[in-house]
Amino acid sequence: MQPLHHIISTREYSREMLDEILETAEKLEPIARGERTSKILDGKVLALLFFEPSTRTRMSFETAMIRLGGQIINMGSVEASSIAKGESLADTIRVVSRYADAVVLRHPHEGAALMASEFSSSPIINGGDGAGHHPTQTLLDLYTIKRESSLDHLNIALAGDLKYGRTVHSLCYALSRYGAKINLVSPPELELPKRMIDDLKNRNIKIHVTHAMEDVIEEVDVLYMTRIQKERFPDPAEFNRVSNSMRITEELIRNCKPNLKIMHPLPRVNEIAPGVDKTPHAAYFKQAFYGIPVRMAILCKVLGVDI
Ligand code: CP
Repeated sequence: MQPLHHIISTREYSREMLDEILETAEKLEPIARGERTSKILDGKVLALLFFEPSTRTRMSFETAMIRLGGQIINMGSVEASSIAKGESLADTIRVVSRYADAVVLRHPHEGAALMASEFSSSPIINGGDGAGHHPTQTLLDLYTIKRESSLDHLNIALAGDLKYGRTVHSLCYALSRYGAKINLVSPPELELPKRMIDDLKNRNIKIHVTHAMEDVIEEVDVLYMTRIQKERFPDPAEFNRVSNSMRITEELIRNCKPNLKIMHPLPRVNEIAPGVDKTPHAAYFKQAFYGIPVRMAILCKVLGVDI
């Protein structure tokens, strides 16, 4: 396996590159479950630089590294680091990338991971850059679809905040490699940016834009719900207008396909009713677990370790 130097976006990933990571993750799943042990990343150090809150991305990278025998260094909160004294992101990256074999960066500014890669002496893994991309989430989303549904002939609805939601931005580019039909379901104010819709149409995939979940809920194989991202709205009044505009309930999915899988990158606020959790359609907690084998596979790829 050739080392992949930075993971910034899935936009340029070929189907072969995506499939290779998914296949590696499948091999690593018993280690992720704690059924087997491994020391393949013994001696490797991963740095975590999180400038925004995170539970899943940060802790699943930590778990992945620990289960493969590696070590983690964590900058901790921005207030506890020299960023609080005015140190730039570029200087922080120049320093930390010399302490570690790879760096996971989450940052509120779109493009931050790409910028960081220009100053880094070790691979940068984008753990989410503002409203930009979240490629490691996309890889675990693909893995979840592969394990719980099928990537072949997929009819999927991406729903919620498609304007600011970085997880859907990354996922729709990756799904275009599998010829999926993509239904974009959002309030009118939160549609996927037009440049992305045009870009996707140029990839010859079927795109259907709607503002009503009822239009698609009975025909899709996967419903990928997202949170409306309060923190990205420049105007709080605009957020208040749309904040409760989409909600998945047991009533809504009453006539769905028997094998419908509902996914969500989490955290959720109120866009999926708790009653949905106990249905066979709820796949979001399994999805969060799949972050571990997938991030193990990403670490092996980035660090040049063959599986
Ligand atoms: N899905 C996701 O990125 O979750 P966190 O914000 O908790 O990392």
